[in-house]
Amino acid sequence: MKLLFSSLLLAGCLTAAAQNTVVATDGMVFNQTANHAHSEIAIIPEPVTIIKQEGHFILPQNILIQATKPADLKQTISFLQERLSVPTGFFVSSTATTSANANIKLVINDRNDAVIGAEGYHLQVTPQQIVITANKPAGIFYGVQTLMQLLPKQIESKDEVKEEVKWQIPCVNITDYPRLTWRGLMFDVARHFFTKEEVKQYIDAMVRYKYNILHLHLTDDEGWRIEIKGYPKLTEVGAWNVKRVGSFGTFIPPTADEPRNYGGFYTQADLKELVAYAQERFVNILPEVDVPGHSLAAVASYPELSCTPEAVNYKVRSGERIMDWSRGAPPLAMVDNTLCPANEKVYEFLDTVVAQVASIFPFEYMHMGGDEAPHNFWEKTPQIAELMKRENLKTMAQVQGYFERRLEKIVAKHGKRFMAWDEVLEGGVSQSTAVMSWRDMKYGVQAAKNKHEVVMSPTQYAYLDYMQADEITEPKVYKGLRLSKTYEFDPVPDGVDPKYIKGGQGNLWTEQVYNIRQAEYQTWPRGFAIAESVWSPKEKKNWKNFFARTEQHFERLNIAETKYAPSVYDPIFAVKRTADGKLLVTLTTEVEGLDIYYSFDNSFPDHFYPKYNEPLVVPVDANMLRVITYRDKKPIGRMMNMPIEELNKRAPKK
Ligand code: ACM
Repeated sequence: MKLLFSSLLLAGCLTAAAQNTVVATDGMVFNQTANHAHSEIAIIPEPVTIIKQEGHFILPQNILIQATKPADLKQTISFLQERLSVPTGFFVSSTATTSANANIKLVINDRNDAVIGAEGYHLQVTPQQIVITANKPAGIFYGVQTLMQLLPKQIESKDEVKEEVKWQIPCVNITDYPRLTWRGLMFDVARHFFTKEEVKQYIDAMVRYKYNILHLHLTDDEGWRIEIKGYPKLTEVGAWNVKRVGSFGTFIPPTADEPRNYGGFYTQADLKELVAYAQERFVNILPEVDVPGHSLAAVASYPELSCTPEAVNYKVRSGERIMDWSRGAPPLAMVDNTLCPANEKVYEFLDTVVAQVASIFPFEYMHMGGDEAPHNFWEKTPQIAELMKRENLKTMAQVQGYFERRLEKIVAKHGKRFMAWDEVLEGGVSQSTAVMSWRDMKYGVQAAKNKHEVVMSPTQYAYLDYMQADEITEPKVYKGLRLSKTYEFDPVPDGVDPKYIKGGQGNLWTEQVYNIRQAEYQTWPRGFAIAESVWSPKEKKNWKNFFARTEQHFERLNIAETKYAPSVYDPIFAVKRTADGKLLVTLTTEVEGLDIYYSFDNSFPDHFYPKYNEPLVVPVDANMLRVITYRDKKPIGRMMNMPIEELNKRAPKK
């Protein structure tokens, strides 16, 4: 039965193949009429070219993979074996010898194919065979990711799928390669500790979207997460605080007798295991040790690293307020969370830390933080005044610049390239400093003009800790960033010499993220948008098309058991006051084709309630506006409960 079916298809495919049915020129493989049109091909990030052909390759129950250089492709073959065999229950084997029966061929080119570079691939699917060709193993791995996305969504299952699935792949010719070489996600494991297994889970999700850098933010005021031999208190003391669950920055300060048992750290062996796990998936881990600011965990462990004698009484932060931002940046510190640039012990300490971190992480860059360092304690420190005199430093920014230049020498001595957040530009750093631009795109643009290497991770587009919809439904943080805005992220803005822009990344800070499910929720789907910004050709970006694919990937993430935010379906509220003082509420949606139903009477609206079609005047005695979005008579957004009191606060005063 199966044989007959596939040979029929085979005959159909051969005739159609000659015609090359659909050529994608604008990123649209199929002309989708509605947002939720289901397309057989929905790849994220969008490949460079897709030529769709008629017919399918049907997975046989015995799948044979043939690899030309099996030693180089060992990890990719076992990855493919697992991903194919578990959901299907099929038998998957591999061979190094040429076999006429091979179903999937993985071919490393003998001669370099300049079009696809080091990470690109060609993927050809015909009814007889699947062939992935690349110059390097990384390209084969990315071709495999694309292949997975061409299979039915059930391929994402962690268990054998019991329902009837047609395990087939559309015939297609894909040529694909990344726009940028640095495609990262930053994961803050300092504010909240995530276990080694959770970090692996995060890596598993990111590699599906062809990310190749995991930036681990390993130290901060709330925790030091790396075992450092010779400085045991960093993890005995520095890795532990008191659990709080309120709003970060206003957490109730811990009392002296509360147990400090919340946190954790990675041993050096743990980190090496993570490095290997990531490398097998073509991900480099960028370690970050954030100094001289954000260092309270280190200072609480070794107070002598601070300029401030009271540091002997300091404790690792548990989210209580320690900074005063009322005067803007840099903040005023209420406790001195900095390492002291005038203290030689600090450079000895950093030399030890950098040496050990360098020996764990093979990646060529090391990130040393440098952001948001408060200077107010330095201002009252006699050793800093002496240092300024001796080194002819005029400002506190220059004191930090002195620290950064010495630190870069330490990092270079241990064979690594120095990377830091964009604030370090203010104190004067060497041109070899690689800059991670976060406060605004403009700092990255300026750094590139000054010939620094730059990675763009601006708050405006790439801060994954920000809320994805209105704060009445999202876990509350101080700012919002919707998916559509993230999709506008262009890491290589006009006017910049692209040669200095290494790439871009999304940053997931975890002050308000308490578990891996919430980390995933914050990352996806904005992580799709960033993946497309760093991988796909700029000309192919198309919001409508992207969102249609995103919805199909929601279904994949459901099966993969990866959480994502459905916030894109939540309406956007705008409110103003009419001339006679009434509140007028305008509701819009981020995506097309949604119907909004509402109530002012405290009952829960459904699709039999009034449908929103023009701005709403709030009735005088209403105390709650509830709204929900539907599509095709099915609820799709979450019930949003907007207190009229809140609308009153938001409406501009006359
Ligand atoms: C940062 O967000 N402080 C780099």
